[in-house]
Amino acid sequence: MIQLYNVFKTYDGNIPALVDISLLIKEQSFVFVTGASGAGKSTLLKLLFGWERFDSGQILVKGMNVGKIKKEKLYLLRRHIGVVFQDYKLLPNKTVFENVAFAMEAIGASSRSMRYKTSDALKSVGLFKKRDSNPMQLSGGEQQRVAIARALVNNPAILLADEPTGNLDPDISLEILKLFEMANQQGMTVVFATHNHELVRHANYPFIILDKGNVVRP
Ligand SMILES: Nc1ncnc2c1ncn2[C@@H]1O[C@H](COP(=O)(O)OP(=O)(O)O)[C@@H](O)[C@H]1O
Ligand SMILES: [Mg+2]
Repeated sequence: MIQLYNVFKTYDGNIPALVDISLLIKEQSFVFVTGASGAGKSTLLKLLFGWERFDSGQILVKGMNVGKIKKEKLYLLRRHIGVVFQDYKLLPNKTVFENVAFAMEAIGASSRSMRYKTSDALKSVGLFKKRDSNPMQLSGGEQQRVAIARALVNNPAILLADEPTGNLDPDISLEILKLFEMANQQGMTVVFATHNHELVRHANYPFIILDKGNVVRP
């Protein structure tokens, strides 16, 4: 469960990025966050995993009071959350396999469980055959699949996606959407930020519309 109560966020000296946001995202649900560029979608996601701090209000994620978590304890929050970005953020000097395994190293997994779970995650996105490739040799859609495998490998309760199809063609975007739907069917809560209305219309999930930092109520 993700809960926001009267959350405000303004970046230094700027117009507000989020204004009085109150939301409830149920466990195991799939929700889109939509709105024009600059509406506050990325900021909303960044607050949920403690990447940015907010000014006032309260955010609860898996029972944790995000605003109260000290910097050195943020890993306790983040181990429940996988994040996928528009630009993939893969390490160019590591193989596909190493990119995914790296996310497990970070949480101190044993090497046996790392090999096993990394293989599993790569199979689930259909890229096990390319495990020894350099990510830079893959197409954009394949690179995003690697990034999704990396987000899935620790089996997080929550998957946050920030414009994951922003650099991809429409047909590839739908394939990427399917992977998030698959994760959701396996029980993960998915929060999918996109300004792509086609995608939102294509799938029949609830959506949160942001406009200049405000939630638009229908
Ligand atoms: N790091 C930052 N520093 C200052 N302003 C920012 C920063 N990130 C976002 N903003 C501003 O916050 C608002 C919301 O941005 P953002 O959350 O990125 O929107 P979206 O993801 O919907 O495009 C915009 O006005 C943007 O310019
Ligand atoms: Mg954004």
